[in-house]
Amino acid sequence: MIEVRRAELGDVEGIRQIGLQTWPVAYGGLVSEQFIADGLAQYWSPEAVERGMRYGITLVAADGEQLVGVVGLGREDDFWVMWKLYVLPDHQGKGVGKALLDAAIEALPAGTTELLLDVLVGNEQAIRFYRANGFGDPARTPDRDLGVETMWMSRGGL
Ligand SMILES: CC(C)(COP(=O)(O)OP(=O)(O)OC[C@H]1O[C@@H](n2cnc3c(N)ncnc32)[C@H](O)[C@@H]1OP(=O)(O)O)[C@@H](O)C(=O)NCCC(=O)NCCS
Repeated sequence: MIEVRRAELGDVEGIRQIGLQTWPVAYGGLVSEQFIADGLAQYWSPEAVERGMRYGITLVAADGEQLVGVVGLGREDDFWVMWKLYVLPDHQGKGVGKALLDAAIEALPAGTTELLLDVLVGNEQAIRFYRANGFGDPARTPDRDLGVETMWMSRGGL
């Protein structure tokens, strides 16, 4: 039985493990090993995970004691952006990602109408998931240049 709940400080190591186990599998054929190593150091350090919890919204999917998925949201300019949505490889395709996404939208402050995210253009599995869950091209984006390998997606009408 999977439970989605707010992350607590005691979850930091479990959240880190999701990144460490998911990134090499998800991005292995898409980007360089250096990109993966840099991203894990930058976004999945204990400090980065704690910062995300403090300044944004972090929810986890727990299967008993084990954390199997995480979603992280934060403010960027006047937008809410989904920084992280990751499910452990052997727990994907069972509805955990959708449960985390639904709970994340539910957790946004009242009056929020739009959620953005950025995704690697080659990450077809994730893009298909996002399209199936109502994300498309945004009308406006935060003022952050993503370069050519990453793109913005948006879900409005929340
Ligand atoms: C993208 C990701 C977050 C989606 O999470 P997930 O738990 O696999 O997603 P779900 O199980 O909710 O949905 C995935 C598919 O399984 C199907 N599915 C949902 N519940 C199901 C169930 N009970 N049984 C079988 N299939 C199911 C869905 O229809 C969906 O199909 P679609 O992708 O064609 O829409 C996850 O696969 C992941 O972590 N991927 C690697 C990391 C990554 O790329 N993250 C995004 C970075 S931007």
